[in-house]
Amino acid sequence: MSTQPVFDRGPGDGDLYEQIAVALERDGYIVLPHALDLAAVDGLFLDLKSVDEEEFKRAGIGRQSDFQVNPFVRSDRVRWLDGETPSARVFLDWMEALKLALNRRLFLGLFDYECHYASYPVGAFYKKHVDAFKGRSNRVLSTVFYLNPVWQPGDGGELVIYDPNTDQVLEKVLPEYGKLVIFLSEEFPHEVLAAQRERYSIAGWFRVNASSAALADPAA
Ligand code: OGA
Ligand code: MN
Repeated sequence: MSTQPVFDRGPGDGDLYEQIAVALERDGYIVLPHALDLAAVDGLFLDLKSVDEEEFKRAGIGRQSDFQVNPFVRSDRVRWLDGETPSARVFLDWMEALKLALNRRLFLGLFDYECHYASYPVGAFYKKHVDAFKGRSNRVLSTVFYLNPVWQPGDGGELVIYDPNTDQVLEKVLPEYGKLVIFLSEEFPHEVLAAQRERYSIAGWFRVNASSAALADPAA
């Protein structure tokens, strides 16, 4: 496995960042089938598979004091990611480069990035939700990166993205290996349909530096 940050279209590739910036400005979201070099994707997949089962915790809703686990809303399990392995480092470096590129182009003022591995056991789902409520969170941009080597249409687990205005389905995204989805956190209701096989992803959020400590999202 290569630990070098080598990508199809890697950091410093203005074209890819330009493509993402244009799409975010025009549509508010983008689906990239192959954002990262395959070696980097393989590395992340191996990392994820080597995490101890017990380290994955039931995902909750809300932050800090209002955190609660509600199995009717979501039934995935998560494990926060730091730069503890070369592959995780490559991923976080890529997100850092994307952050700088988007700040330069769109003046989003993105400040940091947090992400976790998510594992959806067979039958797991995440009901329709938004990742941030206007004015109440510092999450600005959501990312989901998929780590499922073989995923067929019948396997379910699609990410459904809804139109913020009409509530019509905009996209049904298969969680295919190496695919990256980026969308404005406050704008797009979305859900994860029940998966027929175990489903792996890295969900992440670019945040602005909220000055109100009471409303700020903690790092974990
Ligand atoms: C989330 C989320 C989508 C996905 O974790 O908030 O919406 O496709 N994930 O895994
Ligand atoms: Mn979400």
